[in-house]
Order: sequence, then C-alpha cells, then structure tokens
Amino acid sequence: MKTIKLLEHSFAGKETLEQLLENRHSCKEFSSKELTLQQLSNALWAANGLNRTNEGRRTAPSAMNRQDTDIYVILKEGIYFFDPFKNELQPVIEGDYSKLTGQQEYVWATMANFIYVSKGKRREEDIEAWRLYIGMNVGHSSQNVYLYAQSEGLGSVIRGYVDREELKKILKLDESDFVVAGQTIGYPR
Ligand SMILES: Cc1cc2nc3c(=O)[nH]c(=O)nc-3n(C[C@H](O)[C@H](O)[C@H](O)COP(=O)(O)O)c2cc1C
Repeated sequence: MKTIKLLEHSFAGKETLEQLLENRHSCKEFSSKELTLQQLSNALWAANGLNRTNEGRRTAPSAMNRQDTDIYVILKEGIYFFDPFKNELQPVIEGDYSKLTGQQEYVWATMANFIYVSKGKRREEDIEAWRLYIGMNVGHSSQNVYLYAQSEGLGSVIRGYVDREELKKILKLDESDFVVAGQTIGYPR
C-alpha cells in the first residue's frame, strides 16, 4: 500500500440543492463497481475537507472548531487515514477488512467505507455536551456525503451498526477515541 494523493474536488452534478434534498435517501444495495479517484476525493472533501485553506477550516462544522473527527477509509486492499491538510490517504493497515465496515452484509461488497472517529485528545473537556457534539459533528459530514453522492448518482448510507471495539483495536486508537459510525458510498445496484 502506498500513499494515495487525492485530487482537487470537482463536482459534475447538475441538480440544484433543492432537488438533491428532495432525492436524498439511504442506499442499501450496492454494486461492486469501484469509485473513481475523483469521486473518492470529492466524497472525502465533502465529508471533512478543507474549504477555507488559509484558516484551516472544513466543509463540516465542529463544536468549538475542535475538528475532532478523523476519517479512516476502508478500501478493498486495506485501510487508509484521510489527511485533509495534505489531501491524501495514508496507509494504516493492509488486508481485506471489508467485514469491519459493519455487521450488515450489504456493505461488504462496496468499494468505499468511511469510518468516522472522534479523537478524545482534541475534545479536551469531557463535558456532558460532547456526547451530543461528537454525533452532531459526524452528522454534518455524513449529510454532506449523502448530498454529494446524490449529485453524482451514487448511493450512500450512514451506519451506527459497526464493531467499535474491533475497529479501535485494528486502527490502534487511543482509549479516549470514539468510533462514531461508518458510511458507505458506492454505485447503487
Ligand atoms: C445515526 C444513524 C445510524 C444509522 N445506522 C444504520 C445502520 O447501522 N445500518 C443501516 O442499514 N442503516 C443505518 N442508518 C440509516 C437509516 O436506516 C436510514 O437513514 C433510515 O431508514 C431513513 O431512511 P433514509 O435515510 O432513506 O431517509 C442510520 C441512520 C442514522 C441517522
């Protein structure tokens, strides 16, 4: 596995935001056709890429601008870490980890699964409100991906049904990190 340089985002969809919202839905049947590098780059940028480069700000809001959400990407050859600042995917572990993307069979065949992780060290204050913020931050990212997917005729679904403990082990996360959800993006079947 090598570092994958992602492309600058470039959206080809022609639908208005209103149409995208009218059509947004969860897809639960995928084909095994792979996303192009452009589509993968676009989806990651939509999820949590940089949109105000000078300030290091992102496409999705985060409570107190803590930018606590990291994204791991499970592809068929292994797992990568999305670095939005370098706009690249960095190898984490090689191998077929498709079953780690969720306990539901329909996600195993798909070519891109995002795992959203909230980093404990970036949250600092362990206040009650962060229990909500962690999910809200990921919710914004996932809705961005839903809308991007809809704009390109791709399918997507956010999934809470992931094996948090196993993912934590494989990804070598800190104790204070929290695996929030998985999101599948691919061609609908
Ligand atoms: C927080 C959250 C967790 C979800 N977890 C799962 C899941 O584990 N598996 C799944 O198939 N769908 C999951 N979904 C997708 C829902 O089933 C889907 O959004 C719901 O049925 C409404 O359908 P729609 O998105 O097409 O409007 C989840 C959705 C949310 C918001």
